[in-house]
Amino acid sequence: MKIYHSIAEMRQFIKTQQGKTLGFVPTMGALHKGHIALVERAKTENDLALCSIFVNPIQFNKTEDLLKYPRTEEADAALLRTVDCDVLFMPSADAFYPKKVEMRMDFGHLETLMEGAFRPGHFSGVGIVLSKFFNILQPKRAYFGQKDLQQCAVVQKLVEELSYDLELVICPTQREGSGLAMSSRNKRLTPNQLQEASRLYKALKQLAEAFLKGRNLDTEKAIVIADLQRNTVFNVEYIEFVDRISLVPASPTHTPTQTAICLAASIGGVRLIDNIIVAEA
Ligand code: PAF
Repeated sequence: MKIYHSIAEMRQFIKTQQGKTLGFVPTMGALHKGHIALVERAKTENDLALCSIFVNPIQFNKTEDLLKYPRTEEADAALLRTVDCDVLFMPSADAFYPKKVEMRMDFGHLETLMEGAFRPGHFSGVGIVLSKFFNILQPKRAYFGQKDLQQCAVVQKLVEELSYDLELVICPTQREGSGLAMSSRNKRLTPNQLQEASRLYKALKQLAEAFLKGRNLDTEKAIVIADLQRNTVFNVEYIEFVDRISLVPASPTHTPTQTAICLAASIGGVRLIDNIIVAEA
């Protein structure tokens, strides 16, 4: 596996690969099976699989969250080698952003909902880092996990509105045996918190069932939130029934296939997100 740390070296390598298709898996490291599934898919669908590891400072709206983000670069590189990843791009923050970033991106209605509303400036940072990566790497395909459903909608908008010539590939959420969605942030949880965190998936399943049975969703949501917040185990930021593509609130005519249930909650100060499509629950 080739490893590059600077934009100049990375561009130089890309120039030598003209005519080959590149599958790009952007990550912030602390890799888990979910990331590895993306790299494996990128390998099967392209001539080369390239993974980036970059904890992007401009997408964190809380400094504490940035400082506590798990960093396991050596283990990450070793894991990528086990699946024969071809290239790892791992720039430092100073190499990637030599000057303070002054520009901002605005993703319209997506800024006002769920992650957009609770993490002001987050999607601007995601849009800028991905635009830089797309410009440097010129990938044919980029791979994202469905766990970050709203991020997928943001990237779709970025690709469409800026005419990036690439295909966005959204892959299913990988889960632990307990149902907990795999996430780099899980590395910050204690064994007890990990067990508690699996209740988030159960909550999503319970709400999907309520949807399918035609129950009153406001009532069901209130019950689920009260249950999760009992004894202050979780602080629930939101649970929403939304259109799976536009992410706007689902209407009464939405079908189970069109509807996603999304949530964000923190446990022990670690913020987790998850979602399911009602028809797939
Ligand atoms: O999902 C992530 O890990 C990040 O938001 C991404 C896409 C790597 C951009 O920094």
